[in-house]
Amino acid sequence: MATQKKTTILSKHEQAEIESWLKRYPEDRSQSALLAALRAVMHEDHYLSTDKMDAVAEYLDLPKIAVYEVASFYSMFELDEKAAAKNTIAVCTNISCMLNGSGKIVEHIEEKLGIKMGETTPDGQFFFKIEEECLAACCGAPMMQLNHVYHEKLTPEKVDDLLDALTDKKGGK
Ligand code: FES
Repeated sequence: MATQKKTTILSKHEQAEIESWLKRYPEDRSQSALLAALRAVMHEDHYLSTDKMDAVAEYLDLPKIAVYEVASFYSMFELDEKAAAKNTIAVCTNISCMLNGSGKIVEHIEEKLGIKMGETTPDGQFFFKIEEECLAACCGAPMMQLNHVYHEKLTPEKVDDLLDALTDKKGGK
């Protein structure tokens, strides 16, 4: 098990989270804790820096490429530092959502926040992911994830309520 690593840039919380997952697998299967490790880093940093991915690789005794492969495969992981905003918006633009008006939702969010997809608001409140593939909620199209929580059957008004509630709650301006 990877307990008591001497030096790592992973936070205590990230290490504790990884350790809790390592306990669930045989000692020679540390790769099984990789998704959980990356999720723990995402939770704290909101994106995966190369330094943090390398630290995860070292912690789990994995080749760096094994971490990069997983991190770049799943759209729930962000590799772009711009994603280090307080809130992440991911509108599904795949076929069911597209046919049910995701384009209008994207336009509305861009106009409301004054940014394009792939950008972060100047105050660091919102990161608008460049695209999101089908999130298996087609029956609720159009839909989006807001900080990984699903919101379905979106309308511009519903989007306004959701985004406004976040900025109010978090003291955003
Ligand atoms: S197409 Fe958007 S959730 Fe499936």
